[in-house]
Amino acid sequence: MADQNQAGCARDRKPGGIKAGIAALASYIPPLRVTNDMLAEFLDTSDEWISTRTGIKARHISEGENTSEMCVKGAKKLISQTGLDPNSIGLIIVTTSSPDYLFPNCACAVQAAIGAENAMAFDLHAGCTGFVYSMSVADKYIRAGAFENVLVIAAEALSKIMDWNDRSTCVLFGDGCAAALVTARETGVLCEIMGSDGNAGKALTGGYIPVINPFVKDPPPPTGFDYTKMDGRVVMDFALNTVKKNIDDLIRKSGINMEDVKWWLIHQANKRIVDALAKKLELPLERFCTNIHEYGNVSSVCIPLMLEEMIEKGIISLGSGEKVVLCGFGGGLTYGSILMEL
Ligand code: ACO
Repeated sequence: MADQNQAGCARDRKPGGIKAGIAALASYIPPLRVTNDMLAEFLDTSDEWISTRTGIKARHISEGENTSEMCVKGAKKLISQTGLDPNSIGLIIVTTSSPDYLFPNCACAVQAAIGAENAMAFDLHAGCTGFVYSMSVADKYIRAGAFENVLVIAAEALSKIMDWNDRSTCVLFGDGCAAALVTARETGVLCEIMGSDGNAGKALTGGYIPVINPFVKDPPPPTGFDYTKMDGRVVMDFALNTVKKNIDDLIRKSGINMEDVKWWLIHQANKRIVDALAKKLELPLERFCTNIHEYGNVSSVCIPLMLEEMIEKGIISLGSGEKVVLCGFGGGLTYGSILMEL
């Protein structure tokens, strides 16, 4: 396994210097709540199998709203909550594995809908690590002084890339959107380590587009859409080894004690993975947030959605300075962890 020390805290983050912090969060979740029992009406599965293996009790599924429409709803909610002038947004990043189109990107749809006249806008594609990678990118632009306000929106309409006859994948995922306003603040990203392992990329795939044109000698036979496929055991192994190492490296590099981290927000692939990581890290499970029971695996959306829910419930507050670790892992395979002060 590659050394994960090459990126992150080696950069200068002076105490009291400008950091990229989260100023506000808002989410949009499609209203249709699909329980495990509802899936068992048309699939050979059961609430017992799904909940014991994954921790999932329900997920929210789009009844037709596409990814960019959910992004726009999340972004508008964030703007109305904060009173932010859309013209002050320098960058919009939408992180998704399920965009409306190959192009144009979802971020430009948001830019137009909210009237962010001065924004650069692109999509970032890093599977379930998307929010953490996007925070890393936002951090660089903000600390370089390029932009003051960055909109990071995680959004997924994963239901459209599932084979609804494949019980081993379609029961795991859900749809939704969570948007974060990332700004220059006194509290924010302290340390990060991002990484990837493309050698294991085929363990989690979807949407392969073969090259077919008049010049291809032996074009593959036409097939339908290439739905999501997963080797669950490889992903489990990746989470328990590479991701665990990523967290260990982050903690070592940051120089803080594990106990100083108030909350751990780990990607919600599977409740068993979160439980196993807590055990391996020798930390109490109560410090690990979960929302997989209600939303399933919403890929890049899981982490900002958990943060927003905890703020809504009054469990944490932005500006408190409490330390949290955000840890994502997923398709690519990609992974990354960020230590930040809220
Ligand atoms: N309902 C009932 N039975 C099912 C279902 C289902 N929904 N899905 C699979 N099964 C059956 C299989 O057909 C198989 O039956 P068989 O033995 O008769 O062939 C049996 O259950 C075991 O199948 P496995 O795929 O081996 O199931 P496993 O015990 O590995 O559990 C799971 C699957 C939960 C996905 C597991 O591999 C796991 O926890 N993986 C971790 C990765 C993960 O959770 N990924 C989620 C998304 S990826 C990400 O976010 C990065």
